[in-house]
Amino acid sequence: MALRSTDGKDDGPRHVAIIMDGNGRWATQRGRPRLFGHQAGARRVREIVEACPDLGVDYLTVFAFSTENWKRTQSEVAGLMSLFRRYITREGKSLKANDVCVRFIGDRVRLDKKLVSMMDELEALTANCQTVNLTIAINYGGRDEVARATKRLARDVADGKLDPDAVDEETLPKYLDTCVLPDPDLVIRTSGEARISNFLLWQSAYSEYEFIDTLWPDFTAEEFRSVVGGFGTRERRFGAVVA
Ligand code: FPP
Repeated sequence: MALRSTDGKDDGPRHVAIIMDGNGRWATQRGRPRLFGHQAGARRVREIVEACPDLGVDYLTVFAFSTENWKRTQSEVAGLMSLFRRYITREGKSLKANDVCVRFIGDRVRLDKKLVSMMDELEALTANCQTVNLTIAINYGGRDEVARATKRLARDVADGKLDPDAVDEETLPKYLDTCVLPDPDLVIRTSGEARISNFLLWQSAYSEYEFIDTLWPDFTAEEFRSVVGGFGTRERRFGAVVA
């Protein structure tokens, strides 16, 4: 993987978040098992990460497994978990070499201990990397994240560390999994579905959305560049009226 540093573009989205949807349909169209689609989807992640620096995208967040995805068959869930372990093993060194800082968001409590320790190791290995910030959401749900954040916030109140009257819009995000990330400017969902499916609910309050028909395993760096390029033409008002 060859990453180059950003060329200083400042009109594009700094943080792009992606709901990588359509792996299952992509595999079914080819008469293959769903896991075949997830494997192809995992390969696409590398290509999209590589495209970020030239586009001025400093933060890329991808939705790999939702809190609802446990409802899939046991074999698909096990296959996805094994794919995440293989991804970390195969891509870890190259991500570090290319200065990609990797973080994971989501509730780790339900995840396999081996996977969690691999996630911790990759975060530690890439902690000082700066060219791209790649965040991978595993066992992530926006409502679950807000509930877990609220629990931690309530504990701080109970312990006398936080004054309830001081709680405002700036307080809660400090307790979210994404506390060190800027809010996403652009959220892309592939596969033609126009839903946000519990992804970054708090953080995407003012994000722009792009719903793309392409199935995730077919989503190329070229298409990514085109979607990100279109972002500069939008006027974001954040609720204000622009004269
Ligand atoms: C949604 O497609 C996709 C997922 C639930 C899994 C996403 C995982 C990957 C792209 C691969 C792993 C990623 C990393 C970062 C290692 P779907 O299965 O719901 O597709 P469908 O709607 O066509 O059934």
